[in-house]
Amino acid sequence: MEITYHGHSCVQIHTGGKSLIIDPFLSGNPLATAKPEDIVADYILLTHAHTDHILDAEAIAKANDATIVATFELATYMSRKQLKTKEMNIGGSTDLDGIKVTMIQAFHSSSIMLEGDQIIYGGMPAGYIIETEGKTVLHAGDTGLFGDMRMYGERYAIDVAMLPIGDNFTMGPDDALQAAAWLGAKTVIPIHYNTFPPIRQDAADFVRRLEAQQQKGAALKPGEKLTI
Ligand code: NI
Ligand code: MN
Repeated sequence: MEITYHGHSCVQIHTGGKSLIIDPFLSGNPLATAKPEDIVADYILLTHAHTDHILDAEAIAKANDATIVATFELATYMSRKQLKTKEMNIGGSTDLDGIKVTMIQAFHSSSIMLEGDQIIYGGMPAGYIIETEGKTVLHAGDTGLFGDMRMYGERYAIDVAMLPIGDNFTMGPDDALQAAAWLGAKTVIPIHYNTFPPIRQDAADFVRRLEAQQQKGAALKPGEKLTI
């Protein structure tokens, strides 16, 4: 399995001839090295409806005839743009061409900003556990620390966890270190940092602190890959 970090919370997983991209936010991210038109994907997994997670979903879905996977409300919103969608909700699992995807909880908010001053409900925010090739990968989405991360750590042998470290809108590094410990992840990829001034963090320091608690970190630069 190959995991490519595209900056912010956007991660792409290549496994078994298929590709999933999570939270595509490329055209709005000056740090991203890939453009939406570069992306080849079969599935687009959305953790929640905020713009910094869905901005390029429609363009990538149309260009690839890809299926958007999201909570019921967000999937329904996307389906009205004539896109292929698969709706899920928290606690549910689905099989995407042999890749098992489970939607898990996240403590955050989720809304769609329409033109003008209208804000509509985007369904519950979520994360994903992806099981394929005998490996387990967790993408936490945007979330604060919550105690049931310990439960996910007990129930899954997590090879890689992608955890937000940016603070302000999500967990910061201190809580992400606790999340990493509770999840028992072998390797942690920090996400959701440095994209905007309020979420600036020192990822190298975060990796050092992970190592001090006997866990590995991979602070990937946008465009870099990790093979597991
Ligand atoms: Ni968000
Ligand atoms: Mn976000």
